[in-house]
Amino acid sequence: MQNKINKIQELIKDRSPEESLTLLAKEFSGKVVFSTSLGYEDQVITHFIFSNNLPIEIFTLDTGRLFNETYSVLTSTLERYKKPIKVMYPQTNELEKLVTTKGPNSFYESLDNRKECCYIRKVEPLKRALKGNEIWITGIRADQSGNRQDMPALEWDESNQIIKFHPILNWSLTEVKNYIKKNNIPYNTLHDKGFVSIGCAPCTRAIKDGEDFRAGRWWWEQNDKKECGLHSK
Ligand code: ADX
Ligand code: SF4
Repeated sequence: MQNKINKIQELIKDRSPEESLTLLAKEFSGKVVFSTSLGYEDQVITHFIFSNNLPIEIFTLDTGRLFNETYSVLTSTLERYKKPIKVMYPQTNELEKLVTTKGPNSFYESLDNRKECCYIRKVEPLKRALKGNEIWITGIRADQSGNRQDMPALEWDESNQIIKFHPILNWSLTEVKNYIKKNNIPYNTLHDKGFVSIGCAPCTRAIKDGEDFRAGRWWWEQNDKKECGLHSK
């Protein structure tokens, strides 16, 4: 697998994110997908894909617990680009079982419960969306968290058996914001209210000046590796 990654690295060496996506879409025709949370970073990549008509499928994971503002960005993005974003939902049976046996907010009670909810609402639908594809594009940036700092732009995801590519890994938040503004890209208005990393409504809060980028995610938990399982190894 490392060989394949090295080859791709060579292919996209010194290329801009847009050029890299174009090359990958051609090389892995029909097997490149992008997952969007509809946050700032992801809106930049959606713009790259839609405005260049790249044959890359865009999907989002609707956990059923997203902010209304997030659904509004989905609507405005569909209106702006007039192109489809595939929406993935949790398996009904599993979700019904979870909420019936543990109630709607079991994630506040323990880390295991939280991971169970994230698995049913996000991780399992993600696995279905990635199946059969070769390249998974994300909007991860290195300075979003400590454990993203050393992430390579291209990596092998063992649990999903897919190569991940993070085209704007080295962009700063300021670069992202400027790009959004310059291109008049629809964005989540929660970003103007202190929300930087936006996930599900009951599990995300705004952060204060000086707080860690991911401090607003699952803020009641003490662990410092705040991940939901989408990007864990
Ligand atoms: S998470 O692991 O904490 O949930 P984060 O919000 O930092 O992830 O987003 C990192 C990347 O994961 C995004 O750029 C996007 O590619 C993917 N992602 C996160 N949430 C979703 C979602 N609801 N739907 C689709 N992709 C998502
Ligand atoms: Fe469930 Fe919260 Fe995870 Fe969303 S972020 S899937 S509501 S535990």
